Amino acid sequence: MIIDTFLKALEARRSVVAAHGRRVSAFAVRLATQYGLAPDVVESVRVGALLHDAGKLLVPECILTKPGRLNEREWVELRSHPDKGLDLLERVGLDDRMREIVLHHHERYDGKGYPDGLVGSAIPWAVRIVAVMDAFDALTSPREYRAALSVDAARALISREAGTRFCPWVVSGFLSLPASLLDHGSADSHPACYVPDNLPVASSIHATRVWTATVACR
Ligand SMILES: [Fe+2]
Repeated sequence: MIIDTFLKALEARRSVVAAHGRRVSAFAVRLATQYGLAPDVVESVRVGALLHDAGKLLVPECILTKPGRLNEREWVELRSHPDKGLDLLERVGLDDRMREIVLHHHERYDGKGYPDGLVGSAIPWAVRIVAVMDAFDALTSPREYRAALSVDAARALISREAGTRFCPWVVSGFLSLPASLLDHGSADSHPACYVPDNLPVASSIHATRVWTATVACR
């Protein structure tokens, strides 16, 4: 299965990114399920979230792990990962919702996000769900420059950005999730590769591109 191969490449080359994707996927599925979204939408959320940061395969690791502030060139490089991810996944056979998650997960509800500055409901519902859970997992994961935030602290921060960075309805649903569903341990145990057989898959992908993609750090 091509998507499984892709996820294994992500695990091998960017294990932290892959683990983040697994947790975001697990959290986003829990939130999407709470809204009673149709099974095919939940499936798109699950796979799209697993792959949402795939473009980081093409971002130098020294930028992804830099402890200090990024310079302008590094920011441009980092902010290119949604476009790069979509390009990388072009032949994987993702459905439209999955593609939207990969491309638009850094859009903001107020239109100040990237890459397209989409505003409000122009950001697809599934993308808004993944965006909140993406931020939650980032906040509750340790970084070089700070410790992991508690679930309550992350909830408070995300709550303050409802209506600006995040969709207020999605934040409302997120805040109603019980803490037991927001535990990293429960999400970490989520299996990485479990793509159903009926997912549309293109006949080929330049898999070697994934394995050999490197960008020099200067
Ligand atoms: Fe991202």
